[in-house]
Amino acid sequence: MAKITLSIIKADVGSIGGHIKPSQKLLETVSNYIKEKGRGLIIDYYIGHTGDDIAILTTHKKGVLNPKIHKLCLDAFLTGTKIAKAQGLYGAGQDLLVSAFSGNVKGMGPQVAEMEIEERPAEPFLMFMADKTEPGAFNLPLYLAFTDPMHNAGLILSPKVKEGFKFVIMDVSYTKVDKIIELKAPEEIYDIAALLRDTGRFVVESIFSRASGEQVVSASTTRLHNIAGKYVGKDDPVMLVRTQKDFPATGEILSPYTITPLVAGFMRGSHNSPLMPVKKNTSISFFDGPAIVSCLAFCEKEGKLTESADTFDHPYWDYVREQAAQETQELRRQGFFGAAMLPMSELEYTGVMETLKELEKRFKIRKK
Ligand code: 13P
Ligand code: 13P
Ligand code: MG
Ligand code: MG
Repeated sequence: MAKITLSIIKADVGSIGGHIKPSQKLLETVSNYIKEKGRGLIIDYYIGHTGDDIAILTTHKKGVLNPKIHKLCLDAFLTGTKIAKAQGLYGAGQDLLVSAFSGNVKGMGPQVAEMEIEERPAEPFLMFMADKTEPGAFNLPLYLAFTDPMHNAGLILSPKVKEGFKFVIMDVSYTKVDKIIELKAPEEIYDIAALLRDTGRFVVESIFSRASGEQVVSASTTRLHNIAGKYVGKDDPVMLVRTQKDFPATGEILSPYTITPLVAGFMRGSHNSPLMPVKKNTSISFFDGPAIVSCLAFCEKEGKLTESADTFDHPYWDYVREQAAQETQELRRQGFFGAAMLPMSELEYTGVMETLKELEKRFKIRKK
């Protein structure tokens, strides 16, 4: 059986009209670069955008965190950045925070989700891309799809799925090195829930089948403000999920997105927003949002990709989108107030801290 690596590397290197979408020329530049320079290195690729983020999916035989693959994608984004600058796009090179390449792009700004797989006779998988939100946005959908029979009928109907899954969860507030914990579903689902509720701190990095030990999920975990030390854009995560057979069915993985959970992101990365499932290559609009997620389904054989199937391009999801828009409106009615805006610790702008510092000087202790 062939070992194949699936790699998604995603970055925002510039956008039309604010943080809306990349230009056609920018997309073409990135795409042409991968097509030309990837020859002999990668087997196949797909390039698309969600909001202002460009994701490069490649298939190859080089394993995860491969310097050549990472350099290829980084250089594609750097070449794209030149075009973005030439076109006067907003935030040109936004996510390329660290200029020195030291083997892979993890920790440099781009989001990374990779998996080396022992290819099954049929290899269906999903490519998720979100914009105007953070890696923790996938916490609830993953928790529900892999632990809850209300979404995953396989937990009742399929003996292999019923054996459960191992969650690898990262504490992203610890920035020196990776700090992870492994927890088993179903025995430890309350512990998993206790961590995953805190989306700004604990993020699902990967999930494994307990029946076979195979990896099912790889999600990106980079938090930009932990790299830059200040706000430079939201983290806009990507994720790979293998489906069917001993893994959840595609429709089971999609099921929790019907909930459109509130996630952090939206305008200036500082608000809560329902996570709206959208069609591929959707742009951003209202209040720099709402937070969106796209999902493309593929099959691959020895690294050769089929065309993508756009999973959220279906009448059912039109209804969900309408509901998400209504929720968005409800939340936006209260503007900066309470739960609409993120708590101080998660605000992506330092301006408000300066205001508070100034006001602190004017506070007086009242004498009894
Ligand atoms: P098939 O029996 O068509 O493979 O479908 C199984 C399944 O996973 C449906 O969710
Ligand atoms: P991005 O992180 O998608 O670039 O959005 C930044 C922002 O501030 C939107 O208001
Ligand atoms: Mg941007
Ligand atoms: Mg973005």
